[in-house]
Amino acid sequence: MAEVVIVGTPAEAGGIAAEFIARLVARKPDAVLGLATGSTPLPVWTALAERAKDPARPLDLERVRGFALDEYLGLPAGHSQSYRAVIDREVVEPLGLDPALVHVPGDDGGPVEGAGERYEAAIAAAGGVDLQVLGIGRTGHIGFNEPGSSLASRTRVKTLTEQTRADNARFFPTPGEVPTHCLTQGLGTILDARHLVLLAFGEAKAPAIAGAVEGPVSASLPGSAIQLHPQVTVIVDEAAASGLAYRDYYRFAWDNRLAFER
Ligand code: PGA
Repeated sequence: MAEVVIVGTPAEAGGIAAEFIARLVARKPDAVLGLATGSTPLPVWTALAERAKDPARPLDLERVRGFALDEYLGLPAGHSQSYRAVIDREVVEPLGLDPALVHVPGDDGGPVEGAGERYEAAIAAAGGVDLQVLGIGRTGHIGFNEPGSSLASRTRVKTLTEQTRADNARFFPTPGEVPTHCLTQGLGTILDARHLVLLAFGEAKAPAIAGAVEGPVSASLPGSAIQLHPQVTVIVDEAAASGLAYRDYYRFAWDNRLAFER
């Protein structure tokens, strides 16, 4: 079962996820992070940037490597909403990562054909992802694995749902400019990461979180694939947790975790 942590604010969630990353990097300075875009992970990057500057516990992120979950297809190179640009702006720069060590699907200069296989090979050559940060869409997607995605899928081209395009329209001047296609790590790719940290905030995410954590494992709700992974931490605010049947138990388990689990 996933470890579910119910917090008061996104900032608190960001602090918990950042501490996981800080401990990982202290142990493995060239750790491989799986990077998510969207609004949800922003508090993680903010907290991690703060944590790295803490003079009492300095943290060197210079050797950290990263692989983004997904990328739009069809945007001109350098477009401000391409995930390459978003990752550079929201993750690489504030954290002081080496941009050469951070990869986004399809950014290797090769053709779209075969980009998924090349990305998989690059992740494997890096030794796999140590910690994967995840958001979840209202469709239940993780990465851009929309409903119907194979639980065994690998990095490939996908078509975005109308719901996801509408949800992401806030980042574009007009809704019609949201791309229709993307490259995304598959569910099988995500499940290969050693630790999954999935965050969600707000009532709009409550059905997706309930389905992902407590629903049947199903390609119809791709986030439910996390139930197949042995080390998952789901960090949610009260609103996103509101559809969880066992939320009192999750709270009790977190508050009473044993010393070695802390
Ligand atoms: P959001 O997106 O963080 O912007 O809500 C999450 C997702 O689509 O995975």
